[in-house]
Amino acid sequence: MIRSRIVGVGAYLPERVLTNADLTQRVDTTDEWIVERTGIRERHIAAEDQFTSHLAIAAAERALASAGLTGADLDLIVLATATPDNTFPSTATRVQAALGMTRGAAFDVQAVCSGFIFALSVADNFIKSGQARTALVIGAECFSRILDWTDRSTCVLFGDGAGAVVLRAEEGRGDNGDNGILSTHIHSDGRHYKLLHVDGGPSSTQTVGHLRMEGREVFRHAVVNLASVVHEALEANGMAASSLDWIVPHQANKRIIEGTARKLGLSLDRVVMTVERHANTSAASVPLALTEAVEDGRIKPGHLVLLEAMGGGFTWGAALVRF
Ligand code: ACO
Repeated sequence: MIRSRIVGVGAYLPERVLTNADLTQRVDTTDEWIVERTGIRERHIAAEDQFTSHLAIAAAERALASAGLTGADLDLIVLATATPDNTFPSTATRVQAALGMTRGAAFDVQAVCSGFIFALSVADNFIKSGQARTALVIGAECFSRILDWTDRSTCVLFGDGAGAVVLRAEEGRGDNGDNGILSTHIHSDGRHYKLLHVDGGPSSTQTVGHLRMEGREVFRHAVVNLASVVHEALEANGMAASSLDWIVPHQANKRIIEGTARKLGLSLDRVVMTVERHANTSAASVPLALTEAVEDGRIKPGHLVLLEAMGGGFTWGAALVRF
């Protein structure tokens, strides 16, 4: 049975850091309120001339270097973003051109904060079906561009960044002792559109629009849906939460991460947390956190790692991976 093995990881954060203290100059908020409700202390913000593709290219180059590959080795790019450079073409094709990849296919996937898990699932299925052998999966966002900087209830929560992984087809035995992606699980429920959406777009308002959110409702759904999809992933592989070495959650809010870990009976010292320094970078948050934990040696070969995320739509998903 063919498995997708993660053979490289990479991430990129824009240089500019915006602290909670900086935000108090823009909206009526305090460092204490933001830290207590979210765990966020600072976030990175893209420079004016930096687009989502620029962040994605930087993360992709690092992921390819860590895999010892180049753009010419790739036959698939799947890029998750809700903040593309342009309405079209896809941001993935901008990355494709920059990496010197002239064959195969590159396209975007849109599932907001769950985008990376959805993109990973798509690429994994391309590999398992034999349609691709080497794939680049990217989560990249410039959420700073769709925030209403006068709305204190949302502008304090998000940041910009990008993360990427390189997948390679490898022959496995087909059981859960294999290395690579063991399973992916994705869901959506369009009934909750209003709770988290952008109030603009090409076919509706012909404007980019701003992010709007019912924070409390989103919080409630997030903890329930995340715990449910994590159980689903573990059950599909006949495993218990206690077999996980690490969980790499979407970095929306420290309280959501802690609430989900508590529901699963997982100790927080097995949870990778970057929300304090990155805030919520939407589709970029999982690959950013994953890259950090691989690069600093927390995630080691053989470790069983669960990735999970939830976002607008609603969308939610999980992936179980043995490194
Ligand atoms: N600073 C100070 N006060 C604020 C701020 C702020 N930045 N933002 C809101 N407030 C005020 C509100 O106006 C309200 O005041 P009021 O009681 O006088 O009306 C009060 O704080 C409480 O507001 P709530 O929205 O009820 O606060 P809550 O405890 O729910 O925390 C938060 C808000 C942090 C947004 C929380 O609901 C949350 O984290 N929700 C999850 C949302 C999320 O993470 N979304 C990301 C995308 S989806 C995802 O990735 C899972």
